[in-house]
Amino acid sequence: MTRVKPSPTSAALALATELRAAGRDIIGLGAGEPDFDTPQAIKDAAIAAIAAGATKYTPVAGAADLKAAIQRKLQRENGLEFAPQQICISNGAKQSLFNLCMAILDETTEAIIPAPYWVSYPDMVELCDAKPVVLATGIEQDFLLQPEQLAAALNERSRLLFLNSPSNPTGACYSGAQLRALGAVLAGFPDVVIVSDEIYEHIHWADEPFVSFAAACPNLADRVVTVNGVSKAYAMTGWRVGYAAGPEALISAMTTVQSQCTSNACSVSQAAATAALDGDQAAVATMSSAYRERHDFVVAALNALPGFDCRPGEGTFYAFPRVTGAMRALGMADDVEFVQFLLNQADVAVVPGSAFGAPGYIRLSFACSMDELTEAMVRINRAISA
Ligand SMILES: Cc1ncc(COP(=O)(O)O)c(C=O)c1O
Repeated sequence: MTRVKPSPTSAALALATELRAAGRDIIGLGAGEPDFDTPQAIKDAAIAAIAAGATKYTPVAGAADLKAAIQRKLQRENGLEFAPQQICISNGAKQSLFNLCMAILDETTEAIIPAPYWVSYPDMVELCDAKPVVLATGIEQDFLLQPEQLAAALNERSRLLFLNSPSNPTGACYSGAQLRALGAVLAGFPDVVIVSDEIYEHIHWADEPFVSFAAACPNLADRVVTVNGVSKAYAMTGWRVGYAAGPEALISAMTTVQSQCTSNACSVSQAAATAALDGDQAAVATMSSAYRERHDFVVAALNALPGFDCRPGEGTFYAFPRVTGAMRALGMADDVEFVQFLLNQADVAVVPGSAFGAPGYIRLSFACSMDELTEAMVRINRAISA
């Protein structure tokens, strides 16, 4: 446990909340969740499920209705075919990822994690006594893992590769060709499982439609686990429904892990998720275009700040500027100090890049109103120009 840290993003959120409670007018750009409410039709489905008595245990790996909706979703949107026994529904995508780590990692194994990474990946690996092998991908390489980097890191202990596209925290997204180039390297390492975390799939605006890793590399299907969920696309973070789809043996092992810790995801939430996946998808597109509008504003505003360098993302609701120029100009040692400065001098809460394995950057969430974003940019500009 001494190797594992509490989530730094939750810590940033807690500090902003504390300062606000103490009367400070803090703009919080640290949150990792949509600012929209869950669409009404989804809430109604949950209420109807309660009324109909869907209040009991479901099978550990999830209710048949939701499994069928996930099968349809993967077929319709990703061109992927799965049998029900190849799907395990969990308490959020986070549990799906953890189930997988528990099922296949131990002290003899390594997990490859491209950085900037989602904060939980290395700690999940550590909790399983395995070794996180972090591969840096900076703004110069568009935050994308390069095939030669992957080839150099793979060895006989490699057991798992994390891919997250579109990426939290960078917003970068792999094209089909880029995924195939990684797949070509992985073809030579048959013991490596690839987990493709596609939780931001629907918050995406690249010219090329989103491509799932399993669809880009069908030759690796026997060791790709696709992880997704309803949290981000349907503004359902609190409902806690995610899922994994992959080879039956792995899914079965993951289900065993889940059966001995939490059992099924909440029955009512599963009914809501079924309605989300099967229902009208208009709200998803509306939310995604709002994120895009904010993205365009924030990236332009950040690039206009002295010492900030922000790559436009292809999705998510995060911007991840490099701030080394601004840090140098202000005589600051690291991004943690810079984030403290922004909190104290600009009343703006963001997360240091080092939390994502990328010192010298900061992450701003634009899951908030345009008014808040506009004011935050004014405040940051004022503080760093003072
Ligand atoms: C990259 C990534 N994967 C997984 C998750 C977990 O999502 P869920 O709410 O489904 O557990 C998050 C949530 O922040 C995330 O950013």
